[in-house]
Order: sequence, then C-alpha cells, then structure tokens
Amino acid sequence: MNENKPLIQVRRSQDRLSESFPPDSQNNFEYIANVHKLLEQVDLKKINIQSRITLRNFVEEEDMEEIKNLHKEWFPLPYHDSYYDSILKNQVKSIIVEFEISKKQKVIIGCLFYMSKPCKQKYLQFRYKYLIDDYYGVYITTIGVINSFRSQGIAKMMMDKLKEICLNSPLVQYIYLHIVTYNNAGIKYYERNGFKAIEIKRDHYSDIEGKQYDAYVYIYHLNNSSIKVGFFNDLFTCLAAPVNSIIDLFKSAKTKFNKQKQ
Ligand SMILES: CC(C)(COP(=O)(O)OP(=O)(O)OC[C@H]1O[C@@H](n2cnc3c(N)ncnc32)[C@H](O)[C@@H]1OP(=O)(O)O)[C@@H](O)C(=O)NCCC(=O)NCCS
Repeated sequence: MNENKPLIQVRRSQDRLSESFPPDSQNNFEYIANVHKLLEQVDLKKINIQSRITLRNFVEEEDMEEIKNLHKEWFPLPYHDSYYDSILKNQVKSIIVEFEISKKQKVIIGCLFYMSKPCKQKYLQFRYKYLIDDYYGVYITTIGVINSFRSQGIAKMMMDKLKEICLNSPLVQYIYLHIVTYNNAGIKYYERNGFKAIEIKRDHYSDIEGKQYDAYVYIYHLNNSSIKVGFFNDLFTCLAAPVNSIIDLFKSAKTKFNKQKQ
C-alpha cells in the first residue's frame, strides 16, 4: 500500500466544471452531456476548429435531451420542463453553436437562450423614451459553452449574434441578465462584452444547493454603440438628466393622485 496516498481524495473547488456552481460545491465534477464522449473521436489540437463551427437559431426535438444535460452540467438550478417546452416552441429563443465532428455528425458545443420582456423604466438610459413607445429589453436566460471549447471566443460569437439581432429590432433598448455574484468567469465574460453591473439583488437565488445567493443585474445598452461616443455621450447624459427628473416628478404625482382617489 502506498503510505503517501491520501485515503480520501479531496476535490478542489476550482476543479468544478462550471463557475455557476458554488465555490464549495461537491456536485459539479462529472460530465453529463453526450458531446464529451463523441469528441473523443477527434484530436482538437490537430484541426482548424473555426472552419467546423456553425451557428443556428432553432432547436429541434432531438436536441432537447442534450440541451437538458448541458444545463445540468452548467447550472446548479434545476430548469423546469416548461422552460424546455418554451425553447421548443420558440417562445424562448435560441442561438446554438455546433461543431462538425465528421461530415455526418454535428454536436452542440454552446448555447444562448433569450426572451423579450417589456422595458423597465429604471433600466433605460434615456427614460423619456418610456413615455413614447413600447420598448423591450432582451433577457438572457442561460448561456454556456462546453469546457473543452472555452476561452476560444465561442460565447463571444453567440453574444455578437444576439447584439446583431437586437440592433435590427429598433424597439429593443437593452440586453440584460442576472448572474450569481460568485461566478467570476461569467462576470469577466459579460464585462469583456460591454455589459455593466447596475444593480445587486439580495438573495435573488433562494436555493442554490440549499443556500441563498445574491445576483448582479448586468446590462448592455444597445443605443450605446450607435450614437453616443465621448463628448456626445456626456452631452446626451446631461440633457437626459433633467428630463428624467421631470418624469420622476410626474410619476410620483400620478401615484399620489391615484392613492388619494382610492
Ligand atoms: C461564461 C462562459 C459562457 C464563457 O464562455 P467562453 O466561450 O469561454 O467565452 P469566450 O471565449 O467568448 O470569452 C472568454 C473570456 O471569458 C473569460 N473566461 C471564460 N471562461 C473562463 C473560465 N472558465 N475561467 C476564467 N475566465 C474565463 C476569460 O476572460 C476569457 O478571455 P480570454 O480567452 O481572452 O482569456 C463559459 O465559461 C461557461 O459556459 N460557463 C459555465 C456557465 C456559466 O457560468 N454561464 C454564465 C452565467 S449564465
């Protein structure tokens, strides 16, 4: 018997597969999805990965089991069947990245899911817009890339696609999401892609492996990219500030009036 070998193999927290799992998690060390086994057939170091990657914006019935398994690998929260049904029905929209293992076989290596939600006034950069039209925010529900393809820009590719889709929809004002505060890899990724933290929601996640955790709200304003750079950005912000205050006054007067009426 080897005297130096510990009897119990202690798992290091940094070895977990996804930083969405709590740092002290003991549950995220084994692959669940089929893709990992299938990828054993290819030597990723010897091939031009980029030439074998494609994007698609739909999910088929036969993808569902693999997508569920990938979610179990990436996220500590169980997603209900209704979530996967909404993906199939395209109520929750998809950006899927596939890798071609052979001429006959493609595997999913990354996915991003999102949905449109009515605009929240407090998340708008220019709140006067709230009074003008029915604007939307695009909410990222989940995003993940399998471990062997991370740090190669796959998630950036999906985000660029989402930004492109949103920029072609004039009523969409921003993209946003919640992220658990300990997920440093995820936070770094969003910040590199131009997102900013605007709010912290205490105990937003009520049960991740039996504990409560806070979430950051990260946001990317789409109108940022087109009009406002440097001086113009400051100018717009200065002009918008008094307008925002007037809107706030108007709204609080309206609330008081409604309360008095009741
Ligand atoms: C967050 C995630 C989607 C990023 O995917 P990705 O394809 O590696 O992202 P990109 O290659 O576009 O960007 C990578 C950058 O993000 C950061 N990053 C990504 N994964 C990282 C990791 N595991 N550890 C540290 N930094 C990481 C790095 O800054 C990296 O830049 P670099 O390659 O120049 O060093 C991926 O890590 C993942 O699937 N995580 C598990 C699920 C999750 O946490 N989703 C986000 C919350 S919903």
